[in-house]
Amino acid sequence: MSHQPDPARYAHPALYRRCGRRGLLLPKLALGLWHNFGTADDAANARALILRTFDLGITHFDLANNYGPPPGSAEETFGRVLHADLAAHRDELIISTKAGYLMWDGPYGEWGSRKSLLASLDQSLRRLGLDYVDIFYSHRPDPDTPLEETMGALAHAVKSGKALYAALSNYNPEQTARAAQILRDLGTPCLLHQPKYSMFERTPESGLFDVLLREGIGGIAFSPLAQGLLTNRYLAGIPADSRAGHDARFLRPEHITEAKLRKIRALDALARSRGQALAQLALAWVLREPAITTVLIGASRPAQLEENLATLENSALSSAELAEIERILAG
Ligand SMILES: NC(=O)c1ccc[n+]([C@@H]2O[C@H](COP(=O)([O-])OP(=O)(O)OC[C@H]3O[C@@H](n4cnc5c(N)ncnc54)[C@H](OP(=O)(O)O)[C@@H]3O)[C@@H](O)[C@H]2O)c1
Repeated sequence: MSHQPDPARYAHPALYRRCGRRGLLLPKLALGLWHNFGTADDAANARALILRTFDLGITHFDLANNYGPPPGSAEETFGRVLHADLAAHRDELIISTKAGYLMWDGPYGEWGSRKSLLASLDQSLRRLGLDYVDIFYSHRPDPDTPLEETMGALAHAVKSGKALYAALSNYNPEQTARAAQILRDLGTPCLLHQPKYSMFERTPESGLFDVLLREGIGGIAFSPLAQGLLTNRYLAGIPADSRAGHDARFLRPEHITEAKLRKIRALDALARSRGQALAQLALAWVLREPAITTVLIGASRPAQLEENLATLENSALSSAELAEIERILAG
């Protein structure tokens, strides 16, 4: 039976905010479909995650051409659920996709040429079963393609109506500033930048956030929980059903070092002293950053979504708590 959405899903008083200095409102939490939505994953669980996200008022779903495995299958999964359960709600959703990482064989299946980006966007639209995506990203900068060509392709995607907004991911501060200028000149300003940012990955603090604030570009932090490290997941070993336990593509058991675990335990104690879970402390910490509009989380079960959304009930951090976090991270 088709899903009946929760009529109270937009009741959360503080879930949405402007994306940088743009008009678009984004939820402070968004769901990414990098893991748990491929052909190999449990389709019923994938559907439950998407529908629970929607029912919580979280309007933004983040995809990329290559999410799966196999590449492309996360877009197919999302497209199936969208058409079966949420077909009447397209205008309530912000759906993003990206092109830039390896997607198909030959010279046009990756990086940032106009050919690659626009062909990839057409493929994504077919897999999603959509006429347009809301946000189209250049997934990574291409050192061998003029930035004008890559940004020209994003601008064309917007002007042709296949995307509503252009966005960047993994661009450094200098590349972001130049790209923002080109996109502005083309009449399709950059909406959003997607960097990796968490207590364990702070590179964006060295220049990128200044550029985003100056340019009025929103920031959406990916892997804000360091793929699950900044949660209670690994406090007592590596559970078989965790990312590190069953999917060794990106988070491997050897990444979970004793030095990291010492910090995770200390952060967990601080979170508990605030009456919250470590995941909630980690998300509150990312959301304290003025350049960040949204934390882009992953989830393997609906209960994680609920716990993560509850971060917003207790997200203010005192200067003493912030100093304690710095002390733990430096340790
Ligand atoms: N632009 C890029 O280059 C790029 C790269 C990577 C990711 N991304 C985007 O960012 C999204 C999020 O990345 P991510 O999945 O690495 O994010 P993350 O939020 O750092 O990690 C998500 C994982 O943390 C665990 N988790 C989440 N909430 C939890 C909770 N309350 N308690 C315990 N464990 C919890 C789950 O792991 P278990 O599976 O172990 O339960 C979940 O799969 C991706 O889906 C994608 O859209 C973009």
